[in-house]
Amino acid sequence: MSTTVQPPAIEVRGLEKSFGDHAVLSGIDLNVPAGTVFSLLGPNGAGKTTVVRILATLARPDGGVVRVGGHDPLADPDAVRELIGVTGQFSAVDEVLTGAENLHLMGRLLHLGRTETVRRASSLLEQFDLTEAARKPVKTYSGGMSRRLDIAMSLMGDPSIVFLDEPTTGLDPRSRRELWDVIRGLVAGGVTVLLTTQYLQEADQLADRIAVLDAGRIVAEGTAGELKRLVPGGHVRIGFADAHGLAAAARAVPQAEADADQLVLQVPSDGSVGEIRALLDRLDGHDLSIGELSIHTPDLDDVFFALTGTASEGTAQ
Ligand SMILES: Nc1ncnc2c1ncn2[C@@H]1O[C@H](COP(=O)(O)OP(=O)(O)OP(=O)(O)O)[C@@H](O)[C@H]1O
Ligand SMILES: [Mg+2]
Repeated sequence: MSTTVQPPAIEVRGLEKSFGDHAVLSGIDLNVPAGTVFSLLGPNGAGKTTVVRILATLARPDGGVVRVGGHDPLADPDAVRELIGVTGQFSAVDEVLTGAENLHLMGRLLHLGRTETVRRASSLLEQFDLTEAARKPVKTYSGGMSRRLDIAMSLMGDPSIVFLDEPTTGLDPRSRRELWDVIRGLVAGGVTVLLTTQYLQEADQLADRIAVLDAGRIVAEGTAGELKRLVPGGHVRIGFADAHGLAAAARAVPQAEADADQLVLQVPSDGSVGEIRALLDRLDGHDLSIGELSIHTPDLDDVFFALTGTASEGTAQ
């Protein structure tokens, strides 16, 4: 066995978890290389928090193999806890304390010693743009500031693997973008991030790889690009004023699909300027009045709905 190959930061095989007779995780496999961002994407109740809790030694799996930094959270929870930082779905900050006091409290819990606690706290306050607010009680913070503090707290122990459970839920778009920068900064510093989210755009922006979790199963896994390729469907939609125009256009573009009810022609396309110009050229000279034209490129939303929609239809029958 080669000793030069770095083991994955997180490795999960056949992970199962039930609460009573409710199977919440039904055989999950994950492999997160060190220094990467991996996103677990799924709707409410998919099992995201349950995965995070098991990896973070906070819940016991019923079956399967779990390794975090090479350690088994069940057999060696202390070794795992030394490596990880966890920002839970619900805030761990104390609203009555100031930002600095929250971080100092964390330093004491981690037995960092006074000097190291103060040093790390001020460096994190700086990194998370909270130096000015450091002496103010957290209850006066905005949602974004409080979320940044929450993440800063999980970094007091200088973890190499960080779990962020829905870090931007409830934040406005601007605060969400600020937090994305914070997460990118973590990764640039060599930290491995496992991020759960319900936002496709977030996974698309941040993650090297994405696993789509639905009802306790991974229904797809890959890079954002790979997942998008699972869903064909890039197309141009052209609306016509009347059925005559639609019929003429459909004859001119045989690969198109005509919707006679909506008077719309749907043409498979990558949406590039070149393809659209060629398409318009073909329609030109047919004396058509085009009402509107829209371009649809598949995004992660399409993937998500295609995959999780199928799954929920399956269980609804
Ligand atoms: N301690 C528990 N006891 C019983 N059921 C639980 C427990 N924890 C989670 N569940 C159930 O497990 C399922 C998955 O929950 P989980 O919190 O992991 O989902 P999630 O993907 O994090 O959802 P959300 O996006 O709402 O946070 C849900 O049906 C939930 O009700
Ligand atoms: Mg959750």
